[in-house]
Amino acid sequence: MDFVGSHILSVDQFERGGIERVFAVADDMAPFARRERMTRVLAGAILSNMFFEPSTRTRVSFGCAFNLLGGDVREIAEVGASSIAKGESLHDTARVMSGYSDVIVMRHPEAGAVAEFAETSRVPVINGGDGANEHPSQALLDLYTIRTEIAARGGSIHGLRIALIGDLRYGRAVHSLLKLLALFDRIEVHLVSPPGLEAPAGITRRLAERGHEVNEHHSLEQGISHVDILYVTRTQEERFPTAAEANRYRGLFRLNQEIYTRHCEPNTVIMHPLPRDSRPAAQELDEDLNANPNLAIFRQTDNGVLVRMALFALILDVAHTVHETAAQVRWFTAKRTPARFRKEARGPDFG
Ligand code: NCD
Repeated sequence: MDFVGSHILSVDQFERGGIERVFAVADDMAPFARRERMTRVLAGAILSNMFFEPSTRTRVSFGCAFNLLGGDVREIAEVGASSIAKGESLHDTARVMSGYSDVIVMRHPEAGAVAEFAETSRVPVINGGDGANEHPSQALLDLYTIRTEIAARGGSIHGLRIALIGDLRYGRAVHSLLKLLALFDRIEVHLVSPPGLEAPAGITRRLAERGHEVNEHHSLEQGISHVDILYVTRTQEERFPTAAEANRYRGLFRLNQEIYTRHCEPNTVIMHPLPRDSRPAAQELDEDLNANPNLAIFRQTDNGVLVRMALFALILDVAHTVHETAAQVRWFTAKRTPARFRKEARGPDFG
């Protein structure tokens, strides 16, 4: 896969080699993300962050990732603040914004809108989430987290057993992650959703056609008992036709420490793309799990910076330069620091 100058619109663009390349570059980013070293490889470059839907993590971590590589960030954070509110088309906005930027990250409430924008853009566009369709950078950081967590427990992505829980119908992070998992070998997938919020048939068919084991459950307890990873999601209330319909599903599945202890294997990793809905009526991931060392949600958000730095470095063709510096850092650290003072790579802090 050739990343240089490419849009990242869907995980369908990836094969295993491309994913491994992103992960290798993300590994190189650790000393820069931890502020142990500085790089200015993207000095003078401008990222335009165009977010037409609420976002905390995705927008800020893309921005931080660009800043950490030395670039500058411009933000449009709501439709009302842009000329789209005056009736400007995506076509015109793309033509204008790509004249001001070297790369654009866009989130939009409509499926397919980011791809439409990218058709006119003269600079690479990264999909930061388009409606209920896809969220490619989230899926890459989720898979990077799965790889790290499972490696720390002696496993690999191949042969993984994973339960995806909650709103699998509208959850774009789930859609992209399932498509990426389909590229690996012998994945055992447990899809745990209330009736009516099942994953799209096209995605489950793709998994089955590639020889993976797909199990659908409507009971939380059944779906979570024999897996390595629990991937919990919130009800995507903004995608439902009415608020009343979203309310019917709220709070149906709630994972807490008691259910985890009773039904899960020891050291089962808990993930969530966040935000978790902590309002009393929802609480799909109870805060009483916060002290559980297998709760990987904040390692996941930290990994988001590494993976997004990697995407920028690959698309803007500076990955090699960063790699040289990272290799130098590793060499100096190994040479100069007595073993007992060496900082371990940040990993799971369980056991
Ligand atoms: C996800 C999204 O926007 O799709 N959030 C995120 O980017 N981390 C998941 C969600 O909103 O539930």
